[in-house]
Amino acid sequence: MRDVAIIGVSQTKFGELWDKSFRDLIAEAGMKAIEDANIEGDDLDAMYVGNMSAGLFVGQEHIASLIADHSGLTPIPCARVEAACASGGLALRNGIMAVASGFHDIVISAGVEKMTDVVDPTPAIATASDQEWEAQQGVTFPSLYAMMARRHMKEYGTTREQLAMVSVINHENAVNNPLAQFPMEITVDKVLNSSMVADPLTLLDCSPVSDGAAGVILCPAEDAKKYTDTPVYIKASAQASGTIALHDRRDITTIDSTIHASRKAYEMAGMTPKDIDLVEVHDCFSINGLLAIEDLGFVEKGQGGPAIEDGMTRRDGEIPVNPSGGLKARGHPLGATGIAQAAEIVWQLRGEAGKRQIDGAEIGMTHNIGGTGGTAAVHIMSR
Ligand code: COA
Repeated sequence: MRDVAIIGVSQTKFGELWDKSFRDLIAEAGMKAIEDANIEGDDLDAMYVGNMSAGLFVGQEHIASLIADHSGLTPIPCARVEAACASGGLALRNGIMAVASGFHDIVISAGVEKMTDVVDPTPAIATASDQEWEAQQGVTFPSLYAMMARRHMKEYGTTREQLAMVSVINHENAVNNPLAQFPMEITVDKVLNSSMVADPLTLLDCSPVSDGAAGVILCPAEDAKKYTDTPVYIKASAQASGTIALHDRRDITTIDSTIHASRKAYEMAGMTPKDIDLVEVHDCFSINGLLAIEDLGFVEKGQGGPAIEDGMTRRDGEIPVNPSGGLKARGHPLGATGIAQAAEIVWQLRGEAGKRQIDGAEIGMTHNIGGTGGTAAVHIMSR
């Protein structure tokens, strides 16, 4: 197997983008990543695109062909990768495996979602849960995560304020991210008093409905310096599957797929959580930002709440989490999220993150999950 490097990244603005279509977004992200990597479009050997549900959100399937065609990149092979909100993370992993195996040399892994064209995105999002046992019974994503939050509060004494702090810190970071959907500061009180979505989670505990796209260009590590002075190296790419329906799990306060994927990633990289300088975690709801730091091994099980309250995950804390603003404040266009996380880590490791730069960042991690944890993808990267 060959070592793999990232030589270019991109992200469109995330938000409610009325003036941009699905195809405009992915073409913009692709073009910017290609420019960033100092290559031409026809240097690409293959394309992998993460997308959860273009069929339900914009009525378009067969998106791989559409994307290759609209980007002027036919006949380069393009494949769609789907694993709900982890589609981007898996597109990245598929690109890495293609380059590592020697099957392809230069690959783009991208992600895109255009969610705001439907009147109510909730039923489409709910298809990432177990249709028979969950969605058809009326549960929504906020309500599934609300059950996880309630249980964590009961088991470990996690407080409502500690959950709110996850959102407060994300918004604090997003202020410095020009590509974020909600770059404004909020307070714990504001989170607690925003409208109730699924008790105990309010509007400001939830990631938003978003449009956006992102891209990452990969090549063999030994060739990377031909294209850029600042390549970022893939140290680990791991994926795990977990039980999709909450009621079938051994414990709904733990996401086992995160544990399995992260332990595999640490083993591949020969690292422990102490080696990681910053992490982009999948905080689609505030409770998930808290579960992530526990399940990734940064704190003991049950200690996520106090750690967040004490500032451990702030930009100047022991383990900076989501300097981009995370899913909560950067935005969460489902299929694009895993790739946007990788783009943020690359900007941080290159020292190009502007006002949100984490000083001295050398090793970064991404954590991208599908649904409530039926899939998890974890990547470790170094400069
Ligand atoms: N954070 C901050 N502000 C938000 C927001 C969020 N998550 N969602 C909406 N807003 C803002 C809007 O910009 C709007 O502001 P304005 O009045 O100044 O224009 C206002 O809140 C109301 O927006 P609206 O779109 O009417 O909200 P909504 O009630 O329809 O949707 C949620 C809010 C939380 C239900 C929706 O964002 C949601 O479903 N989020 C979860 C998405 C999800 O499940 N993703 C998959 C995760 S696995």
